[in-house]
Amino acid sequence: LVTSPLEQAAARIVEIPDYPEPGVIFRDVMPLLSDAECLRTVVTAMLEPWGGKFDVVAGIEARGFLLAGAAATLANVGLVPIRKAGKLPRPAASVTYTLEYGTAEIEIQDDIAPGTRVLLMDDVLATGGTLGAAVELVRKIGAEPIGSTVLMELTELGGRAVVGDAHDVRSLFVN
Ligand code: PRP
Repeated sequence: LVTSPLEQAAARIVEIPDYPEPGVIFRDVMPLLSDAECLRTVVTAMLEPWGGKFDVVAGIEARGFLLAGAAATLANVGLVPIRKAGKLPRPAASVTYTLEYGTAEIEIQDDIAPGTRVLLMDDVLATGGTLGAAVELVRKIGAEPIGSTVLMELTELGGRAVVGDAHDVRSLFVN
C-alpha cells in the first residue's frame, strides 16, 4: 500500500484516551513533528492556501508555537506568540474566553504594526474558544487576522462556528 506524504504524516498523530482527563481523547502531534519529512510536509500544506496573503504568522501556545516557528521560516515572515496570561512581559491586549469548566485568558504584544496581515496557526481546533479569542486579540492590536490554519479540526465539537463564519479557517486533517 502506497500512502501519500500527508497520509504518512496523519498516521503519526497518536490518539491518547482519557488524557488530560477522563473522557477526552488527546491528539498527540509530537510523533508527527519529530519526523523531518512529516513536519515539512504538514507545514508546507498548511501554508499553501495562503501564499502572499499574510505578513506574519501568529502561533498559539503551546503547540501552535512549534508549527508557527517552522512556518515562519519556510514562508520568510516573522512570528508573534499568543500566550496564556501572565507569560508576556509587555502584554498589549488580553481576551478572556469560556472553557468547559471556568475561563481562560490569552495575551499578545503589539510588536507588529497596525494593519499587519496575520495568519494564525495552531495544532488542534476543538471547541474553538482558543482560536476565537486569538482572532479577537489580533484585531485588538489593530492587526488584520486574514485567516487561520490548523493541523487538525475535531468537527464534532463545532469549533468553526464558535470562531465565526466571517473568519476563514482551514484544517489540514479533520476528525
Ligand atoms: C489546545 C490546543 C489548542 C486548544 C484547542 O491547547 O493546542 O490551542 O487546546 O482547544 P479549543 O478549540 O477547545 O479552545 P491547550 O489548551 O491544551 O494548551 P497547550 O498547547 O499549552 O497545552
